[in-house]
Amino acid sequence: MPLPEGFLQELKMRNDITEVASSYMNLARRGRNMVGLCPFHGEKTPSFNIYTENGSFYCFGCGVGGDIITFIMKIENLDYIDAVKFLAQRAGMEMPENTFDDSMSQLRKRIYEANRQAARFFHKQLYSPIGEKGLSYFHSRELADTTIKHFGLGYADSDRFSLCNHLKSLGFKNSEIVAANLAFQSKRSNSIYDRFNDRVMFPIIDLRGNVIAFGGRILTDEKPKYLNTSDTPVFKKSANLFSLNNAKNTGSRTLILCEGYMDVIAVNQAGIQNAVATLGTALTSEQALLMKRYADEVIICYDADEAGQKATQRAIELLRNAGLSIKVISIPQGKDPDEFLRGKGDKGGQAFRNVIERSGNDIEYRLSKAKSKFNMEASEDKVSYLNEAVKILATLDNAVEQEVYASKLSAEIGVSKEAVMQQLKKQVSKRYKEKRTKEFRGIQSRLNGRDDKVNTDRYQKPRVTAAEEALIAYIIKHPDRISYVNSKLSDDKFQTAFNKKLYIYIRDRIKEGKDPLTTVSGDFTTEEAAKIYQIANSYSTQIATDKSMQEYIDVINDEFLKYKTKDAGNASMEDIQERLRRLKDNHQ
Ligand code: CTP
Ligand code: MN
Repeated sequence: MPLPEGFLQELKMRNDITEVASSYMNLARRGRNMVGLCPFHGEKTPSFNIYTENGSFYCFGCGVGGDIITFIMKIENLDYIDAVKFLAQRAGMEMPENTFDDSMSQLRKRIYEANRQAARFFHKQLYSPIGEKGLSYFHSRELADTTIKHFGLGYADSDRFSLCNHLKSLGFKNSEIVAANLAFQSKRSNSIYDRFNDRVMFPIIDLRGNVIAFGGRILTDEKPKYLNTSDTPVFKKSANLFSLNNAKNTGSRTLILCEGYMDVIAVNQAGIQNAVATLGTALTSEQALLMKRYADEVIICYDADEAGQKATQRAIELLRNAGLSIKVISIPQGKDPDEFLRGKGDKGGQAFRNVIERSGNDIEYRLSKAKSKFNMEASEDKVSYLNEAVKILATLDNAVEQEVYASKLSAEIGVSKEAVMQQLKKQVSKRYKEKRTKEFRGIQSRLNGRDDKVNTDRYQKPRVTAAEEALIAYIIKHPDRISYVNSKLSDDKFQTAFNKKLYIYIRDRIKEGKDPLTTVSGDFTTEEAAKIYQIANSYSTQIATDKSMQEYIDVINDEFLKYKTKDAGNASMEDIQERLRRLKDNHQ
C-alpha cells in the first residue's frame, strides 16, 4: 500500500525544500528560484536549481533532480521510506500506520541493531580474559584505554561461532546477521559462522551515531592485514569516512585526510580530532563531496611511500573538483602519522601540529614532485621542468596566485617572469578551451539524448520526444486541460516508452483529482524522478500556452503517421487496413 497522498502533501509542505537544502549547502536567489553549487557533483559555477514553485530541484551539471524526498534520499544515503521517515521526524509528524511496505527499512533497523550489539560484544571481549591478546596489541601500539573506549575498539576472538551465538541469543535471525555481513552462510549446512576471527576491531560509525560497519586488523604479519565489512543495506564503503562523526564536531572547517584507521586514532589521541580516513579503498568523489559539506580545506596526510604519493596525486584532483582547498603534509622519514606519533607521548600533538604548519598547498606539493624528477643544473631539464610547472600553475583559477607562483618560478630557474607568464597564459587558454569543449560535448550529448538512460528512445526519435515532453510539462502546469488533450490524442500516439508511461501516469492522477507529482519520488526510480522534474521544470509558463500545446499534439500525431507509413512495408494486410482506418479517423 502506498503512503496516503494527504500525508505526503503535508510532509512536503512542512519541509520546505529551500530551508532543508540550506542546511546542506549555500543557496542564492535567482528570480523565483534558488541556485547553488551542486552537492552531488563537483563544480565551480552553480548549476543546481531549486524550483520553489513546485518544491523540486534539478542540476544541469549532473542531471540529478527530484522533490524534497529525493533530495534527502541522495544526500543522506537513505531509501524512499527512510527518507520519508527522516522528514516526518524533522517536521514532528507521525508516520501513518501499516500503509506502506517497509520490510527493507525494518531489515536495516535490525542490521543497525546487530552492528551495535556486535560492537558492544567485541568491546566487552577486549576487556575479558579472551581478549587479552587484543588489548595488549592495542597497548603495544600505545593506545590509552581512554582512546580505546572513545573509539569503541574491540576484539573478535578466534572461536568461529562466538558472535553468531551471542547475536542469536539476543534474538537475531541468521538472515539478519548475514545481511549485516557479520557472518557467512555455510554452503553445506544451515549454520552461519563469524566473518571476523582473531582480529582487533574498529567500528565505523555514521553521522547519526549508528554503527554501520567494522574494520578488523590481524595481530600478526599475516594477510589480509585488514578485513572490512562489505557493502550492506546500511553501508556503502565509497560514501563514508572513518571518524567523520568525531571530526565534524570540532567546529573547524579543516579535515585531515589519513590513509588508515590507526593513523586517525593516533592523531586523535594526540589531541587533534578532525582527522578522517577512507575505508580500505581509494578516495572517491562521493567522499570528497561529503568532506566538502563539513570543510573548506583538507590536509592530505598519506603515507610517504610510493603508493601513498600516487594516492595523494589522485586525491588532490578529486578534492579540487569538489571545490576544497588543499594542503599536503609530508611526514619526515617516510612515516605514516601513527608511526610519527609513536614514542612522542604528550609531545606528539605539538610535533604533529608543527608538521601541519610546515605543510604546503597542493600546488607547492606538485611543483616539488615535478622538480624532483629533474636535474636543475642541466638547461634541458630546466626547460622540461618549466613546461611541467606551467601546466601545474595553469590549474590555478586565481590570476593573482598565478602571478605569485610565476615570480617564484622565474627566480628559481633564472628565466624572466614575462617569459614564464607568456607560457602560462598559453597553457591557461589551452586548458580553458579543453574544458569548454568537454562541457560542450557533455551538454550536446545530453541534448541529443545519446546518454539518456531513462528515455532510451530519445536518440532515435528526437522530434517526437521533445513534443511529448513539452506536452507533459504543459499538462503538469495546466491539469485542467487534461480532458481536452486526452480527447485529441490517444495514448498509443506516444512513441517513446517512457513518456507514454509518464503521460498515462500523470493523466490518471489528474483524473483521480490528485496533484500530478506528489508521489513521483516513490513511484519511480531516482533516475526517472530526475528526468520527470527536469521535464516539469524546463518549460516556462510562457511556452506552456494553449497554442503551443496544440502544436505539440500536431507534432505527435504527425510523427505517428510518418512512423506508421514507414513501417507499412513489413505489415500484414489486416494491419494496413487497420491503419488506414485509423488514419481516416484522425482526419475527421
Ligand atoms: N587496508 C585494507 N585492507 C588491507 C590493507 C589496508 O582495508 N589489506 C586499509 C585499512 O583501512 C588501513 C588502510 O588501508 O587502515 C591503510 O593501510 P596500511 O597503510 O597498510 O596500514 P596502516 O594504516 O599503516 O595499518 P597499521 O598501522 O595497522 O599497519
Ligand atoms: Mn601504520
